[in-house]
Amino acid sequence: MYLIPPKKRHGPTGKKVHGLAYTSAFLLPLREVPNKSTFNHRNMSKISVIGAGNVGATCANCIAQKELASELVLLDIKEGVSEGKAMDMMQTAALLGFDTRITGVTSDYTKTAGSDVVVITSGIPRKPGMTREELIGINAGIVKSVIGSVLQYSPDAVIVMISNPMDTMTYLSVKTTGLPRTRIIGMGGLLDSSRFKYYLSAALGAAPTDVTGCVIGGHGDTTMIPLTRLATYNGVPVSTLLDSAALQQVAADTMVGGATLTKLLGTSAWYAPGAAAATLVEAIIRDEKKVMPCCVYLDGEYGQKDICIGVPVMIGRNGWEKILDYKLDDAEKAAFAKSAEAVRKTNSVLHDMKLI
Ligand code: APR
Repeated sequence: MYLIPPKKRHGPTGKKVHGLAYTSAFLLPLREVPNKSTFNHRNMSKISVIGAGNVGATCANCIAQKELASELVLLDIKEGVSEGKAMDMMQTAALLGFDTRITGVTSDYTKTAGSDVVVITSGIPRKPGMTREELIGINAGIVKSVIGSVLQYSPDAVIVMISNPMDTMTYLSVKTTGLPRTRIIGMGGLLDSSRFKYYLSAALGAAPTDVTGCVIGGHGDTTMIPLTRLATYNGVPVSTLLDSAALQQVAADTMVGGATLTKLLGTSAWYAPGAAAATLVEAIIRDEKKVMPCCVYLDGEYGQKDICIGVPVMIGRNGWEKILDYKLDDAEKAAFAKSAEAVRKTNSVLHDMKLI
């Protein structure tokens, strides 16, 4: 908005230009100079990340650097942790040049009010030797209570689920909130696909960004399905470039990609999970219509009903918009059915715990 008094609204020749003042930026106080951010979607967006641990904080950091929101709230139950991490990140703003305002809060959901997207990372991570499924006993209770508080203040938010076991936590959220299924998205497949591309690129001696690949099914060491048949290197099927033993090795490494890191780190990974979560948030906030493998509630698609599991979905401003049918071959269909069976078994623990 131009705030120069009307009598000064003239260019060097004293003429008005198209009814608006002709002026130069240096005549205006800095904050009044129209710039790209004046018209950018991020001025209208608010994102909250619940859980300010390794994954939540990394995700928040990526979201800020991508400038996906004007306001980003980081919430944790541990006193001071969110506040400290938010302040630390804000102290990178002048260095990295982003204008997202990051606030850290301890358990104060009122500060998350009106969020467009809420990312849920609260809960415990796995330790070496543990499966994601083993986290259910603690994380299910945490996720159920967190999602209730989130929706109390942000009833229209799109929910991005990270906490593990992710397929079951996504299912728990769909079953207990009554939200349209399109508004709850589990992130796992995007992370698994990025790990798949990493291992493919290493086997090919190629750049990860030159590789396409998709992992569907459950987000577990034995349930994920790297679709080697559909993976490409610059449009060329990788099955024509790598022999079947190499492809099988890539698939096997992908499936235990998280466990490999947990063994090395002593806790589960955070850079790739945080970046994958932020990439999904970006597709939502920017209404990108990108296709990503994500965990969503199926109602007959891929031959499955009443389950949340990874399939290719188109992501937009309101959540996921459609499920793409990749026409699986018989072996892939069988693997998907087996994966769904395993995810269902984990989901049944929710009944045992009386959470659904
Ligand atoms: N409300 C808010 N935050 C909570 C709650 C709760 N009820 N319970 C736990 N937290 C917080 C913890 O205080 C901690 O800061 O969640 C955070 C989890 O962070 P980390 O322990 O560092 O775990 P992280 O590696 O980030 O993994 C989080 O993501 O990838 C998954 O399997 C992983 O389920 C795990 C989740």
